[in-house]
Amino acid sequence: MPAGEKHGVGTMRPVVLSLLFFLLLATDTNVASSVLASVKFTPSDNYLLDCGASTSTQLNDGRVFRSDPQSSSFLSTNEDINVSADNSTADLSVSPLYLTARVFNGRSTYSFFVSKPGRHWIRLYFYAFANAKYNLTSAVFTVSTDDIVLLHDFTPDSPASAVVKEYLVGVSGDKVSLTFAPKKGSLAFINAVEVVSAPDNLIADFAAAISPAGQFNGVSKLALEVAYRLNVGGREIVPVDDTLGRKWRTDGGFLKVPAAAQNVSVSTKTIKYPDDGSVTPLIAPSTVYSSADEMANSNTADPNFNITWEMAADPAFSYLIRMHFCDIVCKSLNTLYFNVYINGLMAVSTLDLSSLTSGLAVAYYKDFAVNATTITNSTILVQVGPNPDSASGTPNAILNGLEVLKMSNAAGSLDGLFAVDGSYHGGAAPGSIATKVVPGVGLALGALTMGLVVIFTLAEVREATKNFDEKEVIGIGGFGKVYLGMQDDGTKLAIKRGNPSSEQGINEFQTEIQMLSKLRHRHLVSLIGCCDENNEMILVYEFMANGPLRDHLYGSAGHPPLSWKQRLEVCIGAARGLHYLHTGASQGIIHRDVKTTNILLDENLVAKVADFGLSKAAPSLEQTHVSTAVKGSFGYLDPEYFRRQQLTEKSDVYSFGVVLFEVLCARSAINPALPREQVNLAEWAMQCHRKGQLEKIIDPHLVGIISPASLKKYVEAAEKCLADHGVDRPSMGDVLWNLEYALQLQDAVMEHPGEGSSDEKANHVAQESPVRKGDEGHAVINDDSTPIAGPLFQGR
Ligand SMILES: *[C@@H]1O[C@H](CO)[C@@H](O)[C@H](O)[C@H]1NC(C)=O
Ligand SMILES: *[C@@H]1O[C@H](CO)[C@@H](O)[C@H](O)[C@H]1NC(C)=O
Ligand SMILES: *[C@@H]1O[C@H](CO)[C@@H](O)[C@H](O)[C@H]1NC(C)=O
Ligand SMILES: *[C@@H]1O[C@H](CO)[C@@H](O)[C@H](O)[C@H]1NC(C)=O
Ligand SMILES: *[C@@H]1O[C@H](CO)[C@@H](O)[C@H](O)[C@H]1NC(C)=O
Ligand SMILES: *[C@@H]1O[C@H](CO)[C@@H](O)[C@H](O)[C@H]1NC(C)=O
Ligand SMILES: *[C@@H]1O[C@H](CO)[C@@H](O)[C@H](O)[C@H]1NC(C)=O
Repeated sequence: MPAGEKHGVGTMRPVVLSLLFFLLLATDTNVASSVLASVKFTPSDNYLLDCGASTSTQLNDGRVFRSDPQSSSFLSTNEDINVSADNSTADLSVSPLYLTARVFNGRSTYSFFVSKPGRHWIRLYFYAFANAKYNLTSAVFTVSTDDIVLLHDFTPDSPASAVVKEYLVGVSGDKVSLTFAPKKGSLAFINAVEVVSAPDNLIADFAAAISPAGQFNGVSKLALEVAYRLNVGGREIVPVDDTLGRKWRTDGGFLKVPAAAQNVSVSTKTIKYPDDGSVTPLIAPSTVYSSADEMANSNTADPNFNITWEMAADPAFSYLIRMHFCDIVCKSLNTLYFNVYINGLMAVSTLDLSSLTSGLAVAYYKDFAVNATTITNSTILVQVGPNPDSASGTPNAILNGLEVLKMSNAAGSLDGLFAVDGSYHGGAAPGSIATKVVPGVGLALGALTMGLVVIFTLAEVREATKNFDEKEVIGIGGFGKVYLGMQDDGTKLAIKRGNPSSEQGINEFQTEIQMLSKLRHRHLVSLIGCCDENNEMILVYEFMANGPLRDHLYGSAGHPPLSWKQRLEVCIGAARGLHYLHTGASQGIIHRDVKTTNILLDENLVAKVADFGLSKAAPSLEQTHVSTAVKGSFGYLDPEYFRRQQLTEKSDVYSFGVVLFEVLCARSAINPALPREQVNLAEWAMQCHRKGQLEKIIDPHLVGIISPASLKKYVEAAEKCLADHGVDRPSMGDVLWNLEYALQLQDAVMEHPGEGSSDEKANHVAQESPVRKGDEGHAVINDDSTPIAGPLFQGR
């Protein structure tokens, strides 16, 4: 809705002006406070994801959680599956978010585009519902961001109960990723995810340290897990009623001696926020400050006692504790003084709220760092009580709100002592845990894995191809001819018949079966079956109606030129396929022959990588490369691999860079008919790019259609792929990310044509695009033609 947005900006202005005018007129500070009280925070990133759902889900509170897109997901060894609760057992009293889940059999990653760096809330919803096929209560898995371990070997509650894990993590780049890694032999699952921007100044860098007493600095570098958030003495506050979508629980269950406390509350309208802005309703809404627990009016002999809250805590971690105070109990100033203790240690001696806030009913809060060394018996004790030495009136003590946040440790973890890279940070390791956890076992290259592959008889193949009728030939490769086959039910097949006299043919035949039989992915051509009867080497694949990508770029196939968006989507699909190949299986696989004739398009122009005859298992962890005779196609060959005969995944990345330029320029990788400097596309494109003359060689069909920002991002990605040295090239995951971004930039222009410069446009998408942001929910782009973005779903 481009026009609508412009209007919105136009009509905003008078409102802002009149508000300013109002503020200028307002002399009463209370008025200023009530204006402040209506301060609204609009998160620049607001991803609400209902995992495994097929449609979006609206909660009773109005929030809409979008389904995570099917299309961009992984299959095969790193299979991800959407499952729903068995209807007979689904607990309908829990949120509808808990009725579906996404299940992961292998390490899988959601990535979210972040428009503005800074702290973000991550909320993870787990509910191990009953499901006939997957036993979710048996799941054991680790969840981490790019640099923080959130959960280590996590197991959901059994019997199932709904759990929300809430984190505040700093994000510095343009994305945040969430990786789910099942423990070997187990599975992982997730019901719903929130990734939401938090205000910059929500949490300061420092807090008062209890032990050793002083100041603790560096909070902003740490990730936090919200362990408890209590509206002391008040009602539960649900997300829609909070200024920042937080949930505040009641405190009653944590009182050590419930009879020692009584609740007190006033109208929220009486709550004031300090004029200096040191506390705002974003810190805590007035509903938190307008209620409190105070000392119970028990006419006990001893008026001195503490109110004590006791909460379970992990003694291996330090905590950040935020206490909210607001004097809603006194009738006059300077009558309330009390002590605050944490874990039995003095946190504040003689807290004098009225002198701190210069008024009654003014919001105040204080942060404390609680050292792990002070946590005994796995509990945190928070106490308030009168100062026995103070001579003031009636002894009393209050607390209005309490937040307990776990701080990440030196391993960058909020759960255990393992870092994201698997390294152990526990000093003397318990038992024999090594410093590095070495994942997985290699690919058994020797044995043929026939698991998913159907064995055809020669007679069936003959029938399907009309006895290898030359009229049915749809392609010819090094391995042999490819025929169009038709099964009885009308299903079309691509049937590749090898030349039995070729030694290389036999090897490639075996490699292809080995590789493809264990790989299943939306962006890899599926091997359906094979036939080795009578010395024949026949492979049967799914039929790709639109043939090789190359035919859609140039040449005489007669296809209409692909739009820029279609090209991006094809490249993204192929990149996904390769990314899966490199990272998806237990040991990565290097394709070795990435080129536009090996990227096939199905009837919906979905790209699939084909031809695994030259593929090799990637180097294992101990190796840096695989030494091998150089294979591949001229024009796409990684020069470093050619020189050193050492193969890594980065050789595929190089070839893919050539593909990217081929797609952009619509010319072949090698064209000997051209002047010498132009023969090799990779060299020519890089030369033009360096001179800033790339527009000279772009496919004329694209000129004027590509958004400059999208082109810039795309070329940047392509250029990096062609770096001389493999180590300087990005991973396929990074390439994929940049292509997604390029697509998003292009989409933005299509949604807001003719606005501003390209950079402004890029900014515009990031900040405001109504489709990608805000209530419409989650990020980036899926690989469907659907323009609505979904999280980029990557395996690793
Ligand atoms: C799960 O995915 C399949 C397609 O893979 C779809 O047909 C089905 O509706 C999905 N189920 C749910 C509950 O979303
Ligand atoms: C549960 O599903 C079965 C079939 O799957 C159906 O017959 C039955 O009516 C469903 N029950 C409810 C309560 O929806
Ligand atoms: C599911 O797994 C849990 C934990 O391993 C086990 O106790 C339970 O019996 C399993 N349930 C079923 C239905 O298999
Ligand atoms: C306050 O205390 C009263 C009396 O004990 C109780 O009935 C009420 O539920 C409490 N209110 C809250 C919000 O805890
Ligand atoms: C209140 O708690 C503190 C810290 O645990 C303790 O030192 C103090 O004696 C307690 N006060 C009373 C009156 O029990
Ligand atoms: C805990 O104590 C240790 C040693 O005294 C100190 O290095 C560390 O910074 C403290 N951490 C916190 C959160 O207070
Ligand atoms: C430790 O916790 C247990 C269970 O909560 C409690 O029974 C025990 O008294 C506690 N010990 C100390 C020293 O606080």
